[in-house]
Amino acid sequence: MEIREGLTFDDVLLVPKRSSIVTRSQTNLQTKLSKNISLNIPIISANMDTVTESAMAVAMAREGGIGIIHRFLTISEQVNEVLKVKRSGSVIIENPYFIKPDQSVKEAISYMKEKEVSGLLVTDSNSKLVGILTRRDIMFESEGTKLVKDVMTSDVVTAKPGISASEAKKTLQENRIEKLPIVDEKGLVKGLITSKDIMNIDNYPAASKDKKGRPLVGSAVGVKGDFMERAEALLEAGTDVIVVDIAHGHSDNAINTVRLIKKAFPTSELIAGNVATAHGAEDLIKAGVDAVKVGVGSGSICITRVITGSGVPQLTAVLDCAKIGKKYDVPIISDGGVRTSGDATKALAAGASTVMVGGMLGGTDESPGSPVMKNGKRFKIYRGMASFYASLGRKSKETGSVSISEDLNDYVAEGVEAMVPYKGSVTDIIKQLTGGIRSGLSYCGANTIQQMQENAEFMKMSRAGFAESQPHDVDLM
Ligand code: IMP
Repeated sequence: MEIREGLTFDDVLLVPKRSSIVTRSQTNLQTKLSKNISLNIPIISANMDTVTESAMAVAMAREGGIGIIHRFLTISEQVNEVLKVKRSGSVIIENPYFIKPDQSVKEAISYMKEKEVSGLLVTDSNSKLVGILTRRDIMFESEGTKLVKDVMTSDVVTAKPGISASEAKKTLQENRIEKLPIVDEKGLVKGLITSKDIMNIDNYPAASKDKKGRPLVGSAVGVKGDFMERAEALLEAGTDVIVVDIAHGHSDNAINTVRLIKKAFPTSELIAGNVATAHGAEDLIKAGVDAVKVGVGSGSICITRVITGSGVPQLTAVLDCAKIGKKYDVPIISDGGVRTSGDATKALAAGASTVMVGGMLGGTDESPGSPVMKNGKRFKIYRGMASFYASLGRKSKETGSVSISEDLNDYVAEGVEAMVPYKGSVTDIIKQLTGGIRSGLSYCGANTIQQMQENAEFMKMSRAGFAESQPHDVDLM
C-alpha cells in the first residue's frame, strides 16, 4: 500500500512574492460562499451551539461574512433565530408586530419581550394603523393595568410605500422619531422602517445582504429525522443557504440528503460536508451541492482522529478538494483548525474560497452562553457538537427528556467540552482575522483571494523552521 504524506497549516509557509500593494486597504476580500452567494470577507461562523445563533449571525453579516445557525434546536427555535437575523437589518421590516388598542399594556410588554422588539404598531379590527406603542410610552406603566389605546402615540408620522432609504432617514431625523410605519392610501400597514436599521446602512458598509437588503444567514440541517421539514421551514423563514451537516459527509446518508433537498427545493442554495478527499468533494458536487465543506478531524474540539483513527491533515484536504472544486466551479470551504489569521490565509491560498471558524469566535459576547469564572479569569464554554453534553442537549430537544443511562450509555463522543477565554466583541476578532488575511495577500503579491491562489507557493518547513516562526528566545509579556 502506498502511504501519502498529509500536511497541515503548521507544516508550511507561503513564500513571499513581489508586491505592488501600498496599503492593506487596497486588497479586496470578496469571495464566493457558494455558486450563487458572494461574501465581502471569507469568514463563516461555525454551525455549533456554542458559536452561532442569531447574535453571532448578525455580527458576521454586518462585517461581510455569514453565520450558520446550528441545528441542535427545535425547528421553531431555529426558524426564530433566522427570523431574528432577517429582521435585525432589513431596511424595511415587511411584517412588523401588531397589537390591538383594547389589549392591555401588560400584554403589550410581554409580547415586546417575547419578540425582542422595542415597539409595536397598533391596528384596529380593519387592520388600519391607529397608533404606535414604543418604550417611551410604557416607561412609567410597569403595572400594565391600562389599555394600549390609553398610552399609545396616536399622532403617527408615516410614509408611503416606495420611500427611499435617504428620504426615510430625512423624515426620521426631521421628526426626531425612531420608527416610521409605511402605510398605503387605505391606511393599511405595508412595513416599518426604524432609525437603527437606517443607521446600520452607514455603519456597516461591507455588510453581506440578500436581495431585500437583509443580512445573509445560513442554517444547518442533519441527515436523519425531520431534516426535510426543517429545511422547508428554514427556507420559508428566509434562510439564504442550507448546510447539510454530518461528521462523515462522504456517506450515502449525506449524498441522499443532498439529492432529496435539491429535488424538493431546486432553487435553494445548498452546502454539504464534511469531506476531506477529492472523491468526497466530487460525490457531493455530483449530488448537487453549491459548495463543499472540507475538514475531518481538524477542529480544535475534535477528537475524531483520536477515536476513529480517520481524517486528513487540513491543508492537504483543502488542496485535494480545491482541485475538484475548480474543475466543477464549485467553491470549497475550509472548516476547522484555524487558530490564527496565518492559518486562514494558508487555507485560502490552498484553494478554499472561505474558512469556517469555531474556536476563534467562541468566547465572545455574540456566542451563546454566559461567561464563567475560573481562577479569577472569565471563560465561555466551547464544545464539540459531537461531545457528550452537546449530544445530551440535542437528544433532549428531540424527545423532550433524556436518560443518560439508557439514551447515551453507548454514545461514543467525537468532540470534547472545553472553555475558551472570554474575548469581548466578535467584531474585534474579525477585524484582526481579516487584517491578517489582507497582509497575507500582500505578502503573496495579490490584491484578491483569487490572485493569491494563482500566485501561492507553499514551502514545507522543518521543526526548526516552525520553532523559528514563533516568538523565541524572549520572555513574552
Ligand atoms: P475550530 O475552528 O478549529 O474550533 O473548528 C470548528 C469546526 O470543528 C466546526 O466547524 C466543525 O466542522 C468541527 N466540529 C464541531 N464539533 C465537532 C465535534 O464534536 N467533533 C469533531 N468536529 C467538530
